[in-house]
Amino acid sequence: MGDKKVLVVGGGGREHAIVDALARSPQVGTIWCAPGNAGIAREATCVPIKDTDVEALKAFALENGVDLTVVGPEAALAVGIVDTFRAAGLHIFGHTKAATRIESSKEFAKKLMQRHGIPTADYRSFTEYDEARRYVAARPLPAVLKYDGLAAGKGVVVAGTLAEADEALRSMLLDEAYGTGKVVVEDFLTGPEFSFMAFVDGTRVYPMPCAQDHKRAFDGDKGPNTGGMGAYTGLPFLTEEDRESAFRQILCKAAEAMAEEGCPLSGVLYGGLMKTPQGIRVIEFNARFGDPETEVVLPLLESDIYPLLEAVADHRPAPEPVWSDQVTLGIVLASKGYPGSYEKGFPIDGLDTVDAKIYHMGTRCDSGRLVTAGGRVLMVVCEGTEIAKTRDRAYREAARISCENLFYRNDIAHQAIPTREKM
Ligand code: AMP
Ligand code: GLY
Repeated sequence: MGDKKVLVVGGGGREHAIVDALARSPQVGTIWCAPGNAGIAREATCVPIKDTDVEALKAFALENGVDLTVVGPEAALAVGIVDTFRAAGLHIFGHTKAATRIESSKEFAKKLMQRHGIPTADYRSFTEYDEARRYVAARPLPAVLKYDGLAAGKGVVVAGTLAEADEALRSMLLDEAYGTGKVVVEDFLTGPEFSFMAFVDGTRVYPMPCAQDHKRAFDGDKGPNTGGMGAYTGLPFLTEEDRESAFRQILCKAAEAMAEEGCPLSGVLYGGLMKTPQGIRVIEFNARFGDPETEVVLPLLESDIYPLLEAVADHRPAPEPVWSDQVTLGIVLASKGYPGSYEKGFPIDGLDTVDAKIYHMGTRCDSGRLVTAGGRVLMVVCEGTEIAKTRDRAYREAARISCENLFYRNDIAHQAIPTREKM
């Protein structure tokens, strides 16, 4: 075991996967996670500090001689944790507040893509409700309306009717329920979506395997949008050519564009991409590891994650990451009612009998008993050589977990393989 001390900021499944990768590093001796969760507590020491409490996190890092801080959530990046840590002489993996705008402002991202020829849907942005409504009424449906600001996955409305579009525009521009009162209206694109993440430092881009998320709550992509109900790697619809073109024309170009505009990236760039009949297009950029994609991607990293994260944080060339050519598939177990209101505190049993990786997304220990503590609770991830068998194993293992208040989708990877018989 090495002697490096690492602090991971966040407390969901993504952070559990990051902690898990760091725990495999021969260079790492100590891992803290703030605030962490009951599963993370098995591999790291959890520290009860909120992920956006930058001053308290900085004080903790200084007091404990933390060698590297790794930031999970966008909220921490958007409030400038990286700027504050760097000003205090601390090493931190994540983008500055200025660079995080690639995620936190839809309009910033769209303008950047337009200026630098990065392929995305045509758009216009509006602050006036009447103008926006007229524009939408004159365009073909469905209309894609994006609130300009961080909205935790709730900021996009794909409106099939004018009435729906109108309701969304009212809430985004007239309600003041949101914030800046600006909306991006863009053309509706079609095709399979996928997530392509990379470690990026300035113009150095180290790609990860592509993954596909499942945003809707129920089977058949029905129901409300969620944070993601499952993910897998090894996407059969994506050719090597597609990947290469997305890498060069989108990820590398975005890194160059941000560097050119004086806010170089240094952290993870996440491309939410779509393979349309006209080619690969950007749906959105995120400035962080995706969740639940990270839980299926990082288990495939065969090389040491620590020197990679450290080199990116310190703006040095990093060792090229080595990836397994296996595939992974993960099923999210969520609280009944999620993404709407749900109850917490239900006991979870059977985890010890599961032969798979289990990442905790929202759990807590209550008098020694593991209980549910969030909307998304657990993710069961299996690895294998082939996607259908890997999926069947993941479902068999997930079924060993018992908790009266959890549900999951039965059709993870349905775009890759026919839906299995319900077990
Ligand atoms: P987001 O909350 O930004 O992840 O977006 C939610 C979802 O809206 C995306 O995953 C897409 O399925 C859909 N979406 C966003 N923009 C477009 C677009 N231009 N055309 C079609 N679907 C879109
Ligand atoms: N899985 C979508 C996201 O992390 O934004």
